[in-house]
Amino acid sequence: MSSSTETASYRGRGEAASSDGQGGKRAGWRSFVRLIMASKPPKKLIAVALLLSLASTAAGLVVPMVTKQFIDGFSLSALKPGHIVMLAGFFVIQALAGAYSSYLLARLGQHVVASLRERLWRKLMALPVAYYDRHQTGETVSRMTNDTGVVRGLITDHLVGFVTSIISAIGAFILLLTLDWRMTLILLIAIPVLAGIMVPLGMMMHRIAKETQDETASFSGGINNVLSEVRLVKASGAEPRELEHGFKGIRALYRLGVREGKVGAWIGPAVSFTIMMLLVIIIGYGGVRVSSGAMTAGDLVAFILYLMQIIMPVSQIAVFFSQFNKAMGATERISATLEETEEDFAAGGELRSASAPVTAEGLEFAYAGSEPILRGIDFEIQPGQVTAIVGPSGGGKTTLFSLLERYYAPTAGRLLIGGVPLADYSLASWRSRIGYVAQESPLMAGTIRDNLTYGIDRAPEPEELERAARLAYADVFINELPKKYDTEVGERGIKLSGGQRQRIGIARALLRNPDILLLDEATSALDSQSEVIVQQALGNLMEGRTTVVIAHRLSTVVDADQILFVDKGRITGRGTHEELLETHELYREFALRQLRSPKEDEAAEAVDPR
Ligand SMILES: Nc1ncnc2c1ncn2[C@@H]1O[C@H](COP(=O)(O)OP(=O)(O)O)[C@@H](O)[C@H]1O
Ligand SMILES: [Mg+2]
Repeated sequence: MSSSTETASYRGRGEAASSDGQGGKRAGWRSFVRLIMASKPPKKLIAVALLLSLASTAAGLVVPMVTKQFIDGFSLSALKPGHIVMLAGFFVIQALAGAYSSYLLARLGQHVVASLRERLWRKLMALPVAYYDRHQTGETVSRMTNDTGVVRGLITDHLVGFVTSIISAIGAFILLLTLDWRMTLILLIAIPVLAGIMVPLGMMMHRIAKETQDETASFSGGINNVLSEVRLVKASGAEPRELEHGFKGIRALYRLGVREGKVGAWIGPAVSFTIMMLLVIIIGYGGVRVSSGAMTAGDLVAFILYLMQIIMPVSQIAVFFSQFNKAMGATERISATLEETEEDFAAGGELRSASAPVTAEGLEFAYAGSEPILRGIDFEIQPGQVTAIVGPSGGGKTTLFSLLERYYAPTAGRLLIGGVPLADYSLASWRSRIGYVAQESPLMAGTIRDNLTYGIDRAPEPEELERAARLAYADVFINELPKKYDTEVGERGIKLSGGQRQRIGIARALLRNPDILLLDEATSALDSQSEVIVQQALGNLMEGRTTVVIAHRLSTVVDADQILFVDKGRITGRGTHEELLETHELYREFALRQLRSPKEDEAAEAVDPR
């Protein structure tokens, strides 16, 4: 064993130890500073704010001294106007410096929060789908709003306050010592008394605050969920259940709040008890010293004023530490989000046209931390042809589309276009060549026009817009809307029917003019009447493009150039409809079921009195 390995292992232990306990706090502090520095705070502003705070603190320290002079001089001579002016001057300096520095700090805090939010937003836009699989939306939203707010609060309201508090307390203490060291030492007995009361109270408050934070998070998460799925609640008659659920959360928060109040109620009396005790001692003992001539009346007044300047900062420091803990938690969460790996849209070559064969070679895929979903997938998709994907639900069809969209990278194997790996082309140029129509077409807040042109850089001519709408069979209902193309769609497009939204989605895809179309059960959520129209619209969209369609209806499949049967992550059959009917047991079942159902529909219609 050489000594060098010993040193190495020693160092290793040291590093491991620093990642928890005290070291964790220090690391948190460092990452807090790093986070603030990364937002490039204006250094001049910080310096000026700090100087002004110090000036204000210094002025505050001078005031008792001036008061002392004032009082001691009072009996000797008449009021000197100079003294009054000086005293007033210090007050004014203190107030002005204090006000301006807190304005500068507010600006600094706002600067930091805005820049943090910009960085986070840029990050969120660049994070891959996989990130959003792992994190609830509410959690991510709270990172953008609450956590950045907590960091701002620490900077604006507490950070400089903390620094000046310490300076003010130390300054006042030193001045006290010079005024009368004996009385100052008496002051020190107050510290263990105060600590004995405040520390346990503070710890209890901290625990309650943490519980409250968790409870509030789950409460607002639950409320959010219920309110956004209010239709399900009503349709299921689940109001009483949700009412009870909500009440439970409200009552839990109420109990925590009351507990907080109970503990918090002791803080005020404890502090005023300590202050009263100190005042009694100081005034009593100080009075004796004044009458014996060891101390002037001015000294005593100054002493009491300095005492205030110690007690106020000390309570500020306690507030700072609880705020500091909160901000460290927020910083950690923000930093973790900022450190996530993002998608690179621009890296790679520019794909001009995707009218080339798309092939998969030994494609494998597993979502993070789960079983393999796709295994040994091989296929070749010819340009301009229709490839249908059929198979039981949960087999991995949508996952395959996600790989084609490059939402995820395959765990093994690769996808190629025209013999070139997809990964060689930039994400931006690849995705711009693809049109994706899913089971439901989401709408964004905005007008119909905004939705049709969503993600398109150029502003299409009105004729082009109308042509796309016409081909998507969306023109008729759009023209019946109150403001036609300028009609605002409601939140989540609630004012449009499923079929109408699907047709907007198809018109959007038409405007994108992609080479490759991915249709994921685009008509499966529709009633049979809308389905016919949407199917026709899709026919227009598919013209002249490479189409891959995940189909649940036989009618979509029979005419496909190639059918891939995907079952439990593998392609278990491929060929045309006729070929698969011959060779593939499960496909035959699927086809037979599909052939039967229209007849059942007819039977149902025959019975329906309407
Ligand atoms: N984002 C995801 N994270 C983890 N597992 C997923 C995710 N999406 C789908 N899965 C799982 O992958 C399997 C295949 O799903 P999917 O591709 O949607 O099948 P299909 O479209 O054929 O019905 C399912 O078992 C599903 O639970
Ligand atoms: Mg699916």
